[in-house]
Amino acid sequence: MQFLSPKFAMLLLFFLLFHNFLVSSTSTDLATDRAALLALRSAVGGRTYLWNASHPSPCNWAGVQCQNNRVIALRLPGSSLMGALPSNTICNLTLLRTLSLRLNHLSGPLPSDLSQCAELRNLYLQGNQFSGPISSLSVHSLVRLNLADNKFSGEIPSGFNNLTRLRTLYLESNNLSGPIPELSLPNLVQFNVSYNRLNGSVPKSLEGMPVDAFFREHIVWEAS
Ligand SMILES: *[C@@H]1O[C@H](CO)[C@@H](O)[C@H](O)[C@H]1NC(C)=O
Ligand SMILES: *[C@@H]1O[C@H](CO)[C@@H](O)[C@H](O)[C@H]1NC(C)=O
Ligand SMILES: *[C@@H]1O[C@H](CO)[C@@H](O)[C@H](O)[C@H]1NC(C)=O
Ligand SMILES: *[C@@H]1O[C@H](CO)[C@@H](O)[C@H](O)[C@H]1NC(C)=O
Ligand SMILES: *[C@@H]1O[C@H](CO)[C@@H](O)[C@H](O)[C@H]1NC(C)=O
Ligand SMILES: *[C@@H]1O[C@H](CO)[C@@H](O)[C@H](O)[C@H]1NC(C)=O
Repeated sequence: MQFLSPKFAMLLLFFLLFHNFLVSSTSTDLATDRAALLALRSAVGGRTYLWNASHPSPCNWAGVQCQNNRVIALRLPGSSLMGALPSNTICNLTLLRTLSLRLNHLSGPLPSDLSQCAELRNLYLQGNQFSGPISSLSVHSLVRLNLADNKFSGEIPSGFNNLTRLRTLYLESNNLSGPIPELSLPNLVQFNVSYNRLNGSVPKSLEGMPVDAFFREHIVWEAS
C-alpha cells in the first residue's frame, strides 16, 4: 500500500464500498424467489393457495424444490391454475431449471421476458390454453420444451436453431401455421408438430423423424 497516495487509497476504498453496496442491493436470494412465487400465486391461484404464506421460506411449499436455499424447480401439474402468467415474475427465480405447469387452465401469451430465464432447462406447459406466438422463446439453456395441446399460433420460429441443447420439442395440437423451418439441432431426439396447420415440405434435417410427428399436416415429403 505504500505506493498508493492517500487520495487514491480513499478512492479505492470508496469504490470497494460502493461496489459492495451495488452487489448486495442487486443480489437475488430466497426472498426474491419467494416474492416471485407469491406474485405468481396471486395471478394463477389454484392449489398455490395451499402454500403457507406466513412461512418465511418457500422451500417447503408444495411443488417448490430448492437447492442451497434457492428455488430450482417449480412443478404444479394439474393444479387448477387459471389465468395468464404474469411478466417479470418467473425469471425472477434466477436459478430456476424446471418449470412444469402442464395440465392446467392457463391462458394468454407466454410472458415476453421468458428468454431471461438463464438457467431454465425444462419447460412443460402442455395441456393449457396458451395462445399467441412462440417466437419469444429464446431460452438458450432449454433442453426439454413441451408446448403441446395449447392454442399457440403463428409460425415455428427458425430462432429455435439457437437453442442448441434442445433434445425435446413437442408442439403438437396447436394452431401453428406456415412452413416447418430447417432445424439443425444436433441433440434433437423427440419432435412432434402433428395437428397444427403447417404446410410446405419436411426440411432435410427432420426427414429422419417418424411419420406420426407430422400427422394431419399439409406437407409433402420431397423425393431425395
Ligand atoms: C422481479 O424483479 C424486478 C427487478 O428486481 C422487480 O422490480 C420486480 O418487482 C420483481 N417481481 C416480482 C413479482 O417479485
Ligand atoms: C404456517 O407457517 C407459520 C410460520 O412458520 C407456522 O407458525 C404455522 O403453524 C404454519 N401454518 C400451517 C397451517 O402449517
Ligand atoms: C440467433 O442467433 C443469432 C446469432 O447468434 C442472432 O443473430 C439471432 O438474433 C438469434 N435469434 C434469436 C431468435 O434469438
Ligand atoms: C388460429 O390462428 C389463426 C391465425 O393464424 C386465427 O385467426 C384463428 O382464430 C386461430 N384459431 C384458433 C382455434 O385459435
Ligand atoms: C401455406 O399456407 C399459407 C397460408 O396459411 C399460404 O400463404 C402458403 O402459400 C402455403 N404454402 C404452401 C407451400 O402451401
Ligand atoms: C405426435 O402427437 C400425436 C398427437 O398426440 C400422436 O398421435 C403421435 O403419435 C405423436 N408422434 C410422435 C412421434 O410423438
